[in-house]
Amino acid sequence: MANINYNSPSCAVGGGNAPQTLDAVRQFDRKKNWNIFRATSYDRGGSSSDDTPGVALNDVALPHSYIAAALRCSPPSRNSAGPAPVCCFHRDCGMLLDETPLFEPSLLQEIDWSNNTVTFSPPISPSSPGEGLVLRPLCMADFNRGFFKVLSQLTKTGDVTPEQFAKKFEHMKSTGDYYVIVVEDTNMGQIVATATLITEHKFIHSCAKRGRVEEVVVSDMCRGKQLGKLLVTALTLLSKKLNCYKVTLECAPKNVAFYQKFGYAASDETYMQCRFFD
Ligand SMILES: CC(C)(COP(=O)(O)OP(=O)(O)OC[C@H]1O[C@@H](n2cnc3c(N)ncnc32)[C@H](O)[C@@H]1OP(=O)(O)O)[C@@H](O)C(=O)NCCC(=O)NCCS
Repeated sequence: MANINYNSPSCAVGGGNAPQTLDAVRQFDRKKNWNIFRATSYDRGGSSSDDTPGVALNDVALPHSYIAAALRCSPPSRNSAGPAPVCCFHRDCGMLLDETPLFEPSLLQEIDWSNNTVTFSPPISPSSPGEGLVLRPLCMADFNRGFFKVLSQLTKTGDVTPEQFAKKFEHMKSTGDYYVIVVEDTNMGQIVATATLITEHKFIHSCAKRGRVEEVVVSDMCRGKQLGKLLVTALTLLSKKLNCYKVTLECAPKNVAFYQKFGYAASDETYMQCRFFD
């Protein structure tokens, strides 16, 4: 264990460029190549009109290339029983990966669950997805919660850097058409399932929108617990709530029966593609 005093890079956090001071105890786990941080005190350095207090860090594990900072980041959608929200700076680029949601979290809570076409036994819903679980929009901090580990169980993800992830996230957020949802196991601080709804804008059908469900995957440790049903139901009902005239998806033949549960039916059209790279 070594005491460290870390002055963060000069990114604007909490409304200013004031240096953030984190007095913490750091333990480096060589085997996992992780730093474990435990903050003992926290003080906002410099002057700022924003007096929001920081949060304590307790045994936060981060890859070696990251530095944790206990900052003002506790959005209401986060389960207070879970690990303390943490802002993470990549050691090289100083990039802040924070808890800002990709889209408005209330959209998920406002879904009319009575319209769902599948049976949940025991009953679960977007607001109660199960003990120790939270269903919510993706946020940047999920980069450090195994988001890509889950996606890699679906397809090749490539070696995505924090910069690439943050840039893509910002782009998706700015368009307002990307609804990437995740299920987080709040005890482990890990993403265990994800799915995406994209809305496409059309001139046809009176300038309607069309929805596409993509990248549905549940971590192999958590399959068979109704999370797949929860994700697909949530996104299908969300597409309806967003006034899409239809919602479509492409799937492997072995998953056809799964999607039929939600009202999806194979269409007469043939799915074609020109693939440029994997
Ligand atoms: C397909 C997948 C998302 C299902 O998630 P899951 O959380 O294990 O599924 P659930 O627990 O919600 O199961 C829901 C129901 O569908 C059934 N089911 C699950 N996978 C199925 C499949 N491939 N085909 C038919 N039925 C399936 C279950 O038996 C269950 O039935 P029930 O409601 O009658 O009990 C998950 O297996 C997965 O991530 N697979 C790998 C990635 C993948 O193939 N994604 C789909 C890309 S198109």
